[in-house]
Amino acid sequence: MQHFSNDNIKSWDRFYRTNFINCLSGFKSATLIGTISCEGNPNLAIFSNLVHIGADPALIGFINRPKEAAPHTISNIEATGVYTMNHIHASFIDKAHQTSAKYSAGESEFQKSGLGIEWKENIKAPFVAESNIKYLMELVEIIPIQYNRSFFVIGKVTDVYVDETIIAPDGFLYIDNAGSITSLGIDGYYETNLIARFRYAKSDTITEKIK
Ligand SMILES: Cc1cc2nc3c(=O)[nH]c(=O)nc-3n(C[C@H](O)[C@H](O)[C@H](O)COP(=O)(O)O)c2cc1C
Repeated sequence: MQHFSNDNIKSWDRFYRTNFINCLSGFKSATLIGTISCEGNPNLAIFSNLVHIGADPALIGFINRPKEAAPHTISNIEATGVYTMNHIHASFIDKAHQTSAKYSAGESEFQKSGLGIEWKENIKAPFVAESNIKYLMELVEIIPIQYNRSFFVIGKVTDVYVDETIIAPDGFLYIDNAGSITSLGIDGYYETNLIARFRYAKSDTITEKIK
């Protein structure tokens, strides 16, 4: 097995290092975040550094890079307090990837990528029409990470829209059956297959698979 020290990694070409390091933390929940600016411009961007924070209250966080690199989603969230998260399916990964391009604040990634914009009654933030699993978020807290000037954006799930055929009797969501993909690094997208589900693990028994 080859060993790479921090000095090796630092010496690499920037793009090589970015690819290598971005793959290390593994497969990601690539998601499209929909927002709107105070001026009424819809914005859509792909984010994969998502994390579940808690189920009650239902909290999900994501990492936003420094504002000069990725300015629009975070500014719109700060301004309006709401945003949508939309699963990505294999049928539109090319369009989802396109939303990572640097567009100006007045340009809508919905238009530029060709993804459909969906408005729901009394909800200010736009959803992705093509997405089979989507939810509305209310901003809770933005924590600046001083070390690299990025931000941890924490939100509360307020409304969920999901095809009921993927909901198991115990609440598990078979998101693979909805066609949701996973991503790796900054440009790799994968389909998924369930290997197994297991019962709640206990220290005094060997955990069984759920049939
Ligand atoms: C697969 C993929 C995953 C990405 N994940 C993130 C992420 O987690 N955080 C982030 O700040 N940018 C991420 N980006 C980059 C943003 O999509 C990009 O900076 C985008 O232009 C931000 O748009 P905005 O200024 O409209 O928010 C990712 C890009 C790709 C292709």
